[in-house]
Amino acid sequence: MNNNFDQLIDRRNTRSYKWDDMERIFGADDLLPLWVADMDFSVPPAIKEALVKRAELGVYGYTTHSNDYYEAIAGWFNRRHGWQVDPSWISDSPTVVTSLSVCVEQFSAPGDRVVIQTPVYPPFYEVIEGNGRIVAKNPLVQRNNRFEMDLAHLEQLFAEGAKLFILCSPHNPGGRVWTRAELEAVGALCIKYGVAVVSDEIHCDLTFPGHEHTPFSSLSPEIAELTIICTAATKTFNLPGVQTSFLITSNKQWKRRIDTRLKVLGLNYPHHFIEAAIIAAYNEGEQWLDEMLAYVKGNLDFALQYLAQHLPEVKPLLPDGTYLLWVDCRGLGIAQSSLKKWMVEEAKVAFSLGSTFGTEGEGWLRINLAAPRSIVAQALEQFCNAGKLALK
Ligand SMILES: Cc1ncc(COP(=O)(O)O)c(C=O)c1O
Repeated sequence: MNNNFDQLIDRRNTRSYKWDDMERIFGADDLLPLWVADMDFSVPPAIKEALVKRAELGVYGYTTHSNDYYEAIAGWFNRRHGWQVDPSWISDSPTVVTSLSVCVEQFSAPGDRVVIQTPVYPPFYEVIEGNGRIVAKNPLVQRNNRFEMDLAHLEQLFAEGAKLFILCSPHNPGGRVWTRAELEAVGALCIKYGVAVVSDEIHCDLTFPGHEHTPFSSLSPEIAELTIICTAATKTFNLPGVQTSFLITSNKQWKRRIDTRLKVLGLNYPHHFIEAAIIAAYNEGEQWLDEMLAYVKGNLDFALQYLAQHLPEVKPLLPDGTYLLWVDCRGLGIAQSSLKKWMVEEAKVAFSLGSTFGTEGEGWLRINLAAPRSIVAQALEQFCNAGKLALK
């Protein structure tokens, strides 16, 4: 490995949300924070160099994109995902959540029901409810320690009139990389009922061997016409603080609506630093990504083994991708209302609380494995030791 993911980087006092807001969010600052989904790893060196060079300009005026930017994005999706993206399909947006919100606003009406598959990334609820729409849940089904979609219930929601579906692919927090067959089944239902799909594919590059991400729009030209993919390089390369993402749709009319709305929101000028970061990431970051994925897979294997050996009462799902581990802690016998207090005061770790992902997540915790192995090991040791005491 050229990159050293074991390196401990002190992120305290860097205005890190994960490390420096821990006290505000969890009520203590001496926890091992494995919660919000960023990595405790340095970015690929090429990205850092490109950003430093851009910073050295010293003039930070309004910025435009060059063709190299769009080619870097299209090249990436072609190489990594076998999907031909026409640069004219791409719109910039500062964050994926911004894009989800704009899509809900543009492609549904107040009072409409918007389908999500729960438990799911908490802002999915916020962009629906905050825009005056109604959440229509299609709860995921657990089978063989993995989530599956309930297609019959999904069809029922579409038949009852829901016209917009926000898909999380790969899925956070379950770590499922949906198979082509699963996505094709969803696509067939969307065509049958005329449902628009907003596919959040921010985790698309984070897949483990044997699991391949299928961009929803790549399924067929017909499906592409009813799909908007919201994605980014930020999860892949640990850039969420840089605030860059894109929407991709071949539907020209929808693209125009999205661009008009982004302009009205004043979001039509690219950020000064984004193009440099994206070109470096997509053109020079591939080896780093492959090494990072191998390291995180090592963390995952370690975590699964450690939990099975030391605290078999908790049951993790088996993720196909992402750096997130979704763990059923109900076997510890700790009341949902006390889980946070126990985690903070007894285990001294900060994992994400499952209940924030929906009622289906009550009694679950989500562990972020994108950290040096020594931190993951220490956090799991504290967690398991506290868990054993809770069981006594
Ligand atoms: C499914 C999903 N979508 C979106 C985001 C956030 O993306 P952004 O920071 O670009 O809004 C996350 C972050 O964890 C995520 O897991």
